[in-house]
Amino acid sequence: MPQLIADRPILSMTSALGRIMAEARALEQAGRRVVHLERGEPDFETPAHIVEALGAAARAGETHYPDARGSLPLRAALVEKLARENGIACEPDDVVITIGGTHALFLAFQALLGAGDEVLVLSPYWMAIPKLVGFTAGARMRALPAYVDLHEGTMTPADFAARLRAALRPETRGVYLNTPNNPTGAVLTREQLQALAEVAIERDLWVISDEAYEHLLFDDARHVSIATLPGMAGRTLSVYTFSKTYAMTGWRVGYIVSPPELRPVMGPLLSFYSTHGVFPAVQSAARAAIVGPQQAVETMRRAYQERRDRMLAGLEGQGAIRVPVPRGAFYVFADVSAALAGRDVWDLAREWLGLGVAVLPGTAFGAEYGSWVRMSLATRTEDVVTAARALRGHYATATTRAAG
Ligand SMILES: Cc1ncc(COP(=O)(O)O)c(C=O)c1O
Repeated sequence: MPQLIADRPILSMTSALGRIMAEARALEQAGRRVVHLERGEPDFETPAHIVEALGAAARAGETHYPDARGSLPLRAALVEKLARENGIACEPDDVVITIGGTHALFLAFQALLGAGDEVLVLSPYWMAIPKLVGFTAGARMRALPAYVDLHEGTMTPADFAARLRAALRPETRGVYLNTPNNPTGAVLTREQLQALAEVAIERDLWVISDEAYEHLLFDDARHVSIATLPGMAGRTLSVYTFSKTYAMTGWRVGYIVSPPELRPVMGPLLSFYSTHGVFPAVQSAARAAIVGPQQAVETMRRAYQERRDRMLAGLEGQGAIRVPVPRGAFYVFADVSAALAGRDVWDLAREWLGLGVAVLPGTAFGAEYGSWVRMSLATRTEDVVTAARALRGHYATATTRAAG
């Protein structure tokens, strides 16, 4: 038999999410009910006018090879959106339409990283990042803990800059940043981003700024795009997606904005030869999402915020799960050190599966998060309430037993 798989480490990487979902499915097949807080998949329907726009565009014949860079009407609409909402000034040729945010990140790492290069990945990070870096020709990532301390206010912007400086090596080419952050719900402030910008400029680094959750902000949190800080436009690749804002995960459409120097690489080369562009009718529907009514975005944002509040309220009265209050995205990253009692976080995740609650162990987001779990709020409100009730019931009982 011929060798089946190319001899590349990336091809044998496994997925923690796949593992927990398989364990949850096995329980469900045995007749148990499981509440799914492990996935980050909006439970809302894509707004109707976007679906209509797709049908109309497909019927109008937008079914042939696309411009690999993306349709000009969509890129022009995005240039306006970027100026209006993000404060980013760019030309349509600086925007490339991608197969979701994942593909945008793939392009960014491909464009910037070569053999022996390193990207510093602020952690905890979205679990696809190690794989996306793994597809480059010999570059590596190194994680630098940041979001928990920034979120909880235990690291000042000056300390953050110092931590970054201390972590940099000669081979470090850039920093991967994600705000609002998956999984912590941290939303970095202008001052915190300024600290990163200062170091990036000083050491001449690229910044890959993943803004997938830019519209999912709670309370008074404000999103700042790092590309708008002085000196950053020429060194930042900003990544966006329609997946989360418009509940369009299955449509696979996102975009990346990069400095004009990267024009020949991002569209004509990388986008063309990785996917040959994005389905044109989907791009027309994406344009309808951008230029059409935005009420659905606000309705979903409110629902996520309400679920966050229901989760926090539901977990009150127990001392085993500590939840720093998320300010954005749609996850709760909970400190479960008190619940672990010396066990591995996977053992805890299995115990919770037994209670009917599937969560993702924190180690999926970085090796150092072995006493954390991520719970997604992108599931029905009833499920969030049920999960919080089950967990509180479990730990309240456990505490009573221990006390008695
Ligand atoms: C931080 C972050 N970036 C990017 C993405 C990519 O999303 P998509 O490829 O669906 O656009 C996700 C999805 O979960 C994410 O959490």
